[in-house]
Amino acid sequence: MKTLSTAARFLPCRSPAKHPYKAGFQPFASDIYRIPYAYPYRHAAGTSAEDFARHLRDAFKRSVAPESVAAVLAEPVLGEGGFVVPPRDYFRLLQQICREHGILFIADEVQSGFGRTGKWFASEHFGIEPDVIATAKSLGGGMPIAAVTGRAEIMDAPGPGSLGGTFCAHPLSCAAALAVIETIEKESLLARSAAIGERFEKCARGWQKKWDLVGDVRGLGGMCAIELVRNAATREPADTETKQIARYCYEHGLITVTAGTFNNVIRILVPLVVTDEQFDEGLDVIEAALASVAEPGRAALSRA
Ligand SMILES: Cc1ncc(COP(=O)(O)O)c(C=O)c1O
Repeated sequence: MKTLSTAARFLPCRSPAKHPYKAGFQPFASDIYRIPYAYPYRHAAGTSAEDFARHLRDAFKRSVAPESVAAVLAEPVLGEGGFVVPPRDYFRLLQQICREHGILFIADEVQSGFGRTGKWFASEHFGIEPDVIATAKSLGGGMPIAAVTGRAEIMDAPGPGSLGGTFCAHPLSCAAALAVIETIEKESLLARSAAIGERFEKCARGWQKKWDLVGDVRGLGGMCAIELVRNAATREPADTETKQIARYCYEHGLITVTAGTFNNVIRILVPLVVTDEQFDEGLDVIEAALASVAEPGRAALSRA
């Protein structure tokens, strides 16, 4: 069976730091095909959800016949790829194409799932119901657990006992996951995630107005990011500057995580239990880091 993936890692990488993850891991399963992800900031203005979805139809003409495809797999919001948020209609169109051909649609919500985007699953933002969802990370709140959830007819197909693993249904991790779900509900962490996103966006839009270095501000709920560029018009990725900013943050007590095909994205994925004061403190450090790169002559922390 074959799988189509819309992960954006096929794009050429400028720096060896984030060399494509697959480098050096051959041999691979041969029947996996990749199509470009819907990355609005890196495509011509006005590129529509239909234009992006056409890549899938084209793949069915050029690369693989749809009747040979078992599933299309996509991250609803790119994680390592740079927190890219596709146009709202993109996944509805992809799923529609899948349905036309009887192909399963699988959402990889390992990074975007369990409250990160202000909803339980990022897929909900796009009005779709995937056939299968893969989750991990936030599901366990730090404990090692992953889950594959899907429609009963799919999940029951292998038959009892035919899926296994050393740590499957590990009791401690399962208890942790149940506690995570309960805590998200009890402490209204979905709303908190949305509020974190709003707080970040307000601040980051200010940075964007001040410095061309901040090319794009994007995200869903608490899963948000800035993409850094050397020039607002050409959008040349500012990878070295991103590294400098991450280092500045580290030296000033804040660990940031960079991402993106071009190593020029700083992603925000703070614990949803962060307080406003803690979050603002982190934002202050990022702002000072941006200032130190965009205006090297200027002194540090400027946010009140
Ligand atoms: C989107 C996405 N899918 C899958 C994985 C791998 O998940 P796991 O570590 O649970 O195998 C990761 C990162 O680890 C990820 O970010």
